Amino acid sequence: MTTDTPVIQIKNLHKAYGALEVLKGVDLTAPRGHVISLIGSSGSGKSTLLRCCNLLEDSQQGEVIFKGEPVRWKGDGHYRCPADAKQVLRIRTNLSMVFQQFNLWAHMSILQNVMEAPLTVLGRDRAEVETAARGYLEKVGIGDKCDAYPAQLSGGQQQRAAIARALCMEPEALLFDEPTSALDPELEQEVVKVIKDLAAEGRTMVIVTHDMKLAADVSDHVVFLHKGLIEEQGTPEELFGAPKSERLRGFLSATQPA
Ligand SMILES: Nc1ncnc2c1ncn2[C@@H]1O[C@H](COP(=O)(O)OP(=O)(O)OP(=O)(O)O)[C@@H](O)[C@H]1O
Ligand SMILES: [Mg+2]
Repeated sequence: MTTDTPVIQIKNLHKAYGALEVLKGVDLTAPRGHVISLIGSSGSGKSTLLRCCNLLEDSQQGEVIFKGEPVRWKGDGHYRCPADAKQVLRIRTNLSMVFQQFNLWAHMSILQNVMEAPLTVLGRDRAEVETAARGYLEKVGIGDKCDAYPAQLSGGQQQRAAIARALCMEPEALLFDEPTSALDPELEQEVVKVIKDLAAEGRTMVIVTHDMKLAADVSDHVVFLHKGLIEEQGTPEELFGAPKSERLRGFLSATQPA
């Protein structure tokens, strides 16, 4: 692998749920150190595309390539699925996902939440993982919450714990699905700040977001999806400053305050 090999590459991806075609031939590239934002109306396929990147969803046609390594498939069409469970695990553990609803374990402390996957999935040394986990919790500004339980934290703190948990896997890239949508505006900003810090560090990230300001501020590249196809893509300046397609113009005027 050369340093130029993208962390994630999706080529001509097709995905349907039964008869409902959700992705109709989508390409996506996340070069190392880049932030890619996916925007588009509800139902356009953003979450599905993100979930196809780390193989949480199967797809019927097209390629998913992780660091130059194409996913190996068996079967065709609706019967297609990954052929190699070890490859899936390797890819999935390297593309850590942060969900809208945090998805922390309610019965575990924040520290245990962050340590769980590195210990059980990666089999790493407990003392090393604990040191790393405390460091990541400190980094996202909740180092004092190690012993608290998720229910004792605000939404913004829970989401920052979820980001620390994703970071503790030491993944090649982070995938965010609407990381700020479940939060009140003032809590949203705490999470936006963490995401901006991660972008400034040169982390590779793919972010599905309704927050156009976040997309404009952190992205190297923005992809506008419409009904399972890429309608327009480019730099934030291009997409937000000079949108070409009528649909993107309509979408932006509906999502941006007047
Ligand atoms: N598990 C599923 N089974 C059947 N249909 C699904 C499933 N998940 C998503 N869909 C459908 O696929 C389409 C795309 O959904 P997806 O969640 O990717 O959209 P989205 O762009 O993330 O929307 P939102 O902004 O509302 O989160 C929608 O029509 C949705 O109803
Ligand atoms: Mg979604």
